Amino acid sequence: MGHKRLMLVVALVVIATLMLSSCAKTGDKQLEVFSWWTGGGEEAGLNAMIKIWEEKYPDIEFVNAAVAGGAGSNAKAVLATRLSAGDPPDSWQGHAGQELIGTYVAAGQLEPLDDLYKENGWYDVFPATLIPLISKDGHPYSVPVNIHRANVLWYNPAVLAQYNVDPPDPTSFDSWIATMDALKAAGMEAPLSLGEAWTQKHLFETILLATVGPDTYTKLWNGEADWGSADVTKAIENFGLILTYVNPDYASLSWQDASKLVADGDAAFNVMGDWAEGYFRVDLGLELGTGFDWMPVPGTKGSYQFLSDSFVLPVGAKHRDAAIKWLTLCGSKEGQDAFNPLKGSIPARNDADVSLYSEYLQAAMADWKVDTIVGSLAHGVVANDTWSNDISTALGQYLTDKDNAALQAALVNLCKTDGPCK
Ligand code: GAL
Repeated sequence: MGHKRLMLVVALVVIATLMLSSCAKTGDKQLEVFSWWTGGGEEAGLNAMIKIWEEKYPDIEFVNAAVAGGAGSNAKAVLATRLSAGDPPDSWQGHAGQELIGTYVAAGQLEPLDDLYKENGWYDVFPATLIPLISKDGHPYSVPVNIHRANVLWYNPAVLAQYNVDPPDPTSFDSWIATMDALKAAGMEAPLSLGEAWTQKHLFETILLATVGPDTYTKLWNGEADWGSADVTKAIENFGLILTYVNPDYASLSWQDASKLVADGDAAFNVMGDWAEGYFRVDLGLELGTGFDWMPVPGTKGSYQFLSDSFVLPVGAKHRDAAIKWLTLCGSKEGQDAFNPLKGSIPARNDADVSLYSEYLQAAMADWKVDTIVGSLAHGVVANDTWSNDISTALGQYLTDKDNAALQAALVNLCKTDGPCK
């Protein structure tokens, strides 16, 4: 064989090998995505993305491995078991912030996504505030699909009208208490609806913010403010006070059950993240202004207590190439503009088609731009999973004994054992 011929054969072999290996890479027949979005306001957005997936990749089966339970109350335990067994889903939903960085990244469970960020130009379209919360040592580890707001007070305007009381002043915690006192005096026993444990933690974080303000709130989580201070004492007192207005059967209610009490007029108020807007509007078919209305949790106006759902690429993904396609969809304008208008969240990207979003979501987009941004506790931003779970235990105890001093002592201690306090 002549030299030229030999070179040609070698070149052909190289090309064939490259083609084969790229086939192998793109040959995934499946993609398993893990979340806790299973209906009742949570699922519609995911389904919109699955629809796009099925159109784009008809040959790659989308396996929806969602585990029911708000805020991942069941899903996160299932995920932990799978991760310790070396059986990660191809991608899972994790919150930007400490849940991601202080938990999964710290445990070495995720691949960095630098190339994907560069290829897709995501550094130009995701908010500068969010990038540090999904990065470690300058490497990004997840793709945020949305921004949710946690500090929202949902209310039923017809109930307030029926009892002849005005909505509270969103700048004043005390005005909310006065409104609930008026409702109680008029015969409504439980003006504020509440649900299972994580919704109590969600309520607590908003009362903490309302009481101590955004600056101290943020400092409490990064170790610069004192959990033993009079501010925190007051926040716990306020939390205890708020709990005197809630339905006694809270422990057995999901967040949807608690939201439904407001929708049905059995309670006036509920504090929940803005996935409740998706539930009211998309699932229950209610209209803003008549069926439901909102304001920032009184005392928190001007602060946007946020969280972000993001998706990750695990080390050892069985269908890595399909997972990368999924992450690409999650970060795309097309994906985000399909998902968020139904989920009740605003897009993480800054170039969304605003006209696709509801009146509430457009207001949220406007607030996101001007408000002081603080992170959510119950949804993974400010504390890693260990710290957050230990706070849940302390709050669970508080719901039983209402011992203010014991809760404050526990919070002081947990910042030392699990958090940044020395
Ligand atoms: C949050 C999550 C939201 C929503 C909510 C209720 O943790 O970020 O997307 O699903 O839980 O389950």
